[in-house]
Amino acid sequence: MRSTKLLSCLSFVHLAMAQHTWTFVQQGNSGIVPLELITISPTLALMYDRPYANPLKLPNGESAWAGLWHFDTNTATPLEVKTNTFCAGGAFLSNGTLVAVGGQPVDNIPGWGNATDGRMGIRLFGPCTSPSGTGPGCTVFEDPENLHLAVTRWYPTALRIADGSLFIIGGSDILTTFNALDIAQNNYEFYPPRKGEEGKVRPSQFLKDALPANLFPRSMVLPSGHVLMMANNQSVIYDIDSNTELHRLPELPNGVRIGVPFDGFAQLLPLSPPLYEPTVLACGGSNKPDTITLEEMSNQDVATTQCQRMTLTTAGIAAGWEVEHMPEPRLLPETVMLPSGDVLIINGAHTGYSGYPSVSDSGKIGSNADHPAQRGIMYRTTLPSGQRLTQDGLPTSPIPRMYHSAATLTGKGNVMVAASNPHPFVLNANNNPNKLSFPSEYRVEYLNPDFITNNSPRPVITHSPSKLAFNANGVITVTIPHSLAAGELQVSLIDMGYITHGWHAGSRLVFLENSLSGNTLTITAPPNGNIYAPGPAWIYVVADGVWSEGVQIMIGDGGNPPRPAQGVSVKINSP
Ligand SMILES: *[C@@H]1O[C@H](CO)[C@@H](O)[C@H](O)[C@H]1NC(C)=O
Ligand SMILES: *[C@@H]1O[C@H](CO)[C@@H](O)[C@H](O)[C@H]1NC(C)=O
Ligand SMILES: *[C@@H]1O[C@H](CO)[C@@H](O)[C@H](O)[C@H]1NC(C)=O
Repeated sequence: MRSTKLLSCLSFVHLAMAQHTWTFVQQGNSGIVPLELITISPTLALMYDRPYANPLKLPNGESAWAGLWHFDTNTATPLEVKTNTFCAGGAFLSNGTLVAVGGQPVDNIPGWGNATDGRMGIRLFGPCTSPSGTGPGCTVFEDPENLHLAVTRWYPTALRIADGSLFIIGGSDILTTFNALDIAQNNYEFYPPRKGEEGKVRPSQFLKDALPANLFPRSMVLPSGHVLMMANNQSVIYDIDSNTELHRLPELPNGVRIGVPFDGFAQLLPLSPPLYEPTVLACGGSNKPDTITLEEMSNQDVATTQCQRMTLTTAGIAAGWEVEHMPEPRLLPETVMLPSGDVLIINGAHTGYSGYPSVSDSGKIGSNADHPAQRGIMYRTTLPSGQRLTQDGLPTSPIPRMYHSAATLTGKGNVMVAASNPHPFVLNANNNPNKLSFPSEYRVEYLNPDFITNNSPRPVITHSPSKLAFNANGVITVTIPHSLAAGELQVSLIDMGYITHGWHAGSRLVFLENSLSGNTLTITAPPNGNIYAPGPAWIYVVADGVWSEGVQIMIGDGGNPPRPAQGVSVKINSP
């Protein structure tokens, strides 16, 4: 139970912390294009690509399309998958197993690996606890033939919800730049299925209204347990339990659209006790009308600089979207929630659209987007409006990271930046007769904050619990360097998300109540599964804006979904 004496030590005054200077370091080759990238442990990330002529080979000599990335050695090892994981969605379950749902139709070219239709796929990976990736749970991406979705889903979103199962949203039957009524899966389902809903889907009026830009719907679980879904210029708050739409939010202002192929992002900003008021940030995309045709679209069409955020309280919703501007236009951005609560916006382009070449002039360079954005943008969450978006301290990468690129936070606390391949084949120096732009990118970069680059003092977590029940106190042992001890202390509980296509589904940061006495840091787990759905998480200790390496922790009882309600309900002020 929560101890009341902790409350007196609470400090949730978020002071603007020192700005870091960041540096890119190139390390290793990913062997496949990791356009889907999920950090699974301090030493490993799971990645998948399309089955084509990737340099990473399976033991039988064919090209791999899935693999493990080893953070310690900066090398990739192949992983076998049966069905086509390309363009799948996914999330971790309450028991720590990662699930990938949906994907691509058949891709079966001799020598490229044989991927059968993955659109109804449900694939299970892990938990993988062996650091080298050779132990149980690490070597097999299970793809049971008898386990499948109710419908075919290409470009779906999956979110872990309060009972630890997955809420699966939307998608399409086939590959497309724009979704359309005759191919769209304007519906939801659960994995594992809810009682009485086995093999069934729930129709979605919201997804229908958000056509034709409703693929990979940007969605997040709110502290109420309801789900915010955003697509095109539409947003809805949906109640899973009663299967009803509670609120439609105002449309994104100034004609901006974020859904595929306009491709901007949405990110839930950090949640802080006691009210866990949710604020959603959405940036980038385009202000072109959604009636625009492929013939009218050009990869030179300038993306928007616009960001908008809204605090989802009665007052916040009434106040509407608060508009801010990035220093430059951006589409296809990856967003990395840093342990400090700032959001790194990285990769992507200044002009064009997402998707394989399909717009009027895409044939010339082989890309729907052009003018790569090679410098990140930091969203400094706690600064006042107008000061939050900056490129100060951020370097320019020599590597364009276009459609099908990725970026993720790592356990070390830096950012892995990988991939890019706007082409439906492997484009390299030996295979580019038409002189197309943006070769398939296998080079991996890390973006390091100054305290990693300079190896300067950081908080160190020397011991932490491996599991924490909701609302329970846990004890972490830390060392806080003297130089940082006077600054604000934060404990960040992070879900790094399931990363693909500029969309980090499930990405979340909850600041935990904490109290430090000597080297003993007492933390309190989130009160219930609406604030942080039961399942795997990372903890980082942040002192004066400098974060420790992360440690993994299981929040909740770690059991198979669906879990009964755990923890306590708390008074919140958001729908
Ligand atoms: C793909 O199929 C071919 C022939 O059907 C077979 O020889 C090859 O071993 C298969 N590859 C994989 C990775 O299963
Ligand atoms: C949102 O999109 C719809 C459909 O294209 C359009 O009619 C409407 O004007 C847009 N809203 C705004 C605020 O631009
Ligand atoms: C996690 O739960 C899923 C769904 O019930 C199950 O298929 C999977 O085997 C479980 N994982 C573990 C490690 O028990």
